[in-house]
Amino acid sequence: MPRPDLLQRLATYTAEREHAKLRRRLRTIDHADGPWLESGSRRLLSFCSNDYLGLAQHPQLIGALTRAAREEGVGSTSAHLICGHRTAHAELEEALAAWTGRERALLFSTGYMANLGVLQALLARGDVCVQDKLNHACLLDGAKLSGAELKRYPHADVAAAARQLASNPDAAALLATDGVFSMDGDVAPLRELALLCARERATLMVDDAHGLGVFGEHGAGSLDAANLGQHEVPLLMATLGKALGCSGAFIAGPAALIDGLVQFARPYIYTTAMPPALAAAALEAVQLAQSEGWRREKLAALIARFRHGAAGLGLPLAASASAIQPLLLGSSEAALTAAQALERQGLLVTAIRPPTVPAGQARLRITLSAAHEEAHIDRLLGALETLHLPPARQALPGDHV
Ligand SMILES: Cc1ncc(COP(=O)(O)O)c(C=O)c1O
Repeated sequence: MPRPDLLQRLATYTAEREHAKLRRRLRTIDHADGPWLESGSRRLLSFCSNDYLGLAQHPQLIGALTRAAREEGVGSTSAHLICGHRTAHAELEEALAAWTGRERALLFSTGYMANLGVLQALLARGDVCVQDKLNHACLLDGAKLSGAELKRYPHADVAAAARQLASNPDAAALLATDGVFSMDGDVAPLRELALLCARERATLMVDDAHGLGVFGEHGAGSLDAANLGQHEVPLLMATLGKALGCSGAFIAGPAALIDGLVQFARPYIYTTAMPPALAAAALEAVQLAQSEGWRREKLAALIARFRHGAAGLGLPLAASASAIQPLLLGSSEAALTAAQALERQGLLVTAIRPPTVPAGQARLRITLSAAHEEAHIDRLLGALETLHLPPARQALPGDHV
């Protein structure tokens, strides 16, 4: 057998995706103005960004970013452990720890790297990592990178998670779950998982990328809303690129955890620190997310308006209380056709298809933001009504708000 050509093999996989109508395509956005996007010559009202609190273009964030860039330059010039760790990073870490009620926090350049870093640093061959089947790809990848045995339980099924932990009683164990599931919008059964982990002496990790800023009285996320502190959930990961409108991520937890990550988390150690100006902007975002409760209230009101309207139209809406409001359409073709029809009406909503979601569960992932107005929601509902989508299905056992 001749040695396979790697580029040719990749091209074959891409062609297979094209054939299965699953090929992903890049779209260039020429200009963003709140929820309005310009692409090509078209102006589209977007329902697919993760800017849940409408902070991405806030003048205070822009002011902090440009001020810090003027004073400190653009790049951090180095990894944190060399000379890249600046005052702006330290101040942001302190603010994030205080906000989330954790002893300390540690910045990473992206959420993907934070999850890889924490799982690779904590777990090793012979350990077990139990995860919800619908966890974000980077939690799954982190477990694979660590060499631990990865066991995945059916979505939100605490009894199945318990069986997986019990079947391996002697191994060091970490249970990891999304706080808010990125493609479904539902909240994990956090309190039950915390009780399970306490009983089984497993460490609980929650990725609250989509809960931070949105849930909790002061926006501290789904753990705060469930009244779960650092003792119950020692590992909290959240991102700065969603409700906070910036980019980057952090791990928050006990001081000893953070000390250990600085020593052993390779995606922390061997990479350039995020630009200090970005940290300065994120600090501004943290303060606004805490102090401007009206953003959360407005978002909640828009979610309620959308859900009420969608129920009235009998749309196949998933059970979700978060800013992520998926319409479950089943086939990839149905999801693509619906997204294209919405785009013809000036609305941008992404069709999410396998392998991002399980086969047969393609959907429109609609996301709402405090940057939207009631009229935008009504316009979306009006457009959805014209699509004649299949009616709402019965709730499945895994459905859970
Ligand atoms: C649940 C979840 N975790 C982690 C990430 C990765 O974060 P980042 O975009 O900062 O890499 C995402 C999405 O991007 C996410 O949805």
